[in-house]
Amino acid sequence: MNPSRRPLIAGNWKMFNGGRAGVELAEACVAFARDLPSVDVVVAPPYTALAAVADTIDGSPVALAAQNIHPKDNGAYTGEVSGPMLEECGCTWVIVGHSERRQYFAESDAFVAEKASAALANDLLPIICVGETLQQREAGETLRVVKQQVDAFLDVIAQTPKAVAIAYEPIWAIGTGKTAGPTEAEEVHAAIRSWLEKKSPELANRTRILYGGSVKAENAAALLSCPNVDGALVGGASLDAGSFGAIANAARAARGK
Ligand code: PGA
Repeated sequence: MNPSRRPLIAGNWKMFNGGRAGVELAEACVAFARDLPSVDVVVAPPYTALAAVADTIDGSPVALAAQNIHPKDNGAYTGEVSGPMLEECGCTWVIVGHSERRQYFAESDAFVAEKASAALANDLLPIICVGETLQQREAGETLRVVKQQVDAFLDVIAQTPKAVAIAYEPIWAIGTGKTAGPTEAEEVHAAIRSWLEKKSPELANRTRILYGGSVKAENAAALLSCPNVDGALVGGASLDAGSFGAIANAARAARGK
């Protein structure tokens, strides 16, 4: 882990804990985050819990993310939520381009780039997700696929001085219990860093590249010790504050603080 980038551990609650249970989970995250001042802890509850969780974490080191954003600020888009609404609700981060959205809601690379741009225009930092399918990995296409996904939003993140995050999440590792090993993860993270570097060394230096896909307390230390892994996007294990806290603690330890 590079000392110039603070470790970022983000919990993607997906379609869980959208009410009272979300507030309780957020309270438990606040409790462990207070002891980890060198780690940025972010939680991403469902929309229905955003306002209540924003109240719960107010004044604490935990930051709030939404799981999605519509690129328009307002309009006739039934069921959608916009950047200004998320900002007013207390979000400072938003996940965009998660593979579940790409897969089940047909979000294209161009649409993901639009969302990243809308986030930045509304003072929200995007966590932009990329990653290959098992079939693509087995065909040796991982770097080609991930590069194509990164290229789609590279200009958007290069045009701002803000420090966005990219999450490399191999689709075959999400919710399956399979993780990319540290060597596989580092290979892709280093490649992403090199593409950013080519665009601008400053961009490469400020962008945190997170790993996601079955990150657990047991495998976090090895992944977070990789030089180009700056944190984790955690799904299942973020629903248990003990596990999520242990992952954040592994990030602290990987930085040697
Ligand atoms: P997982 O999910 O940790 O449950 O594999 C990660 C994600 O989808 O962000």
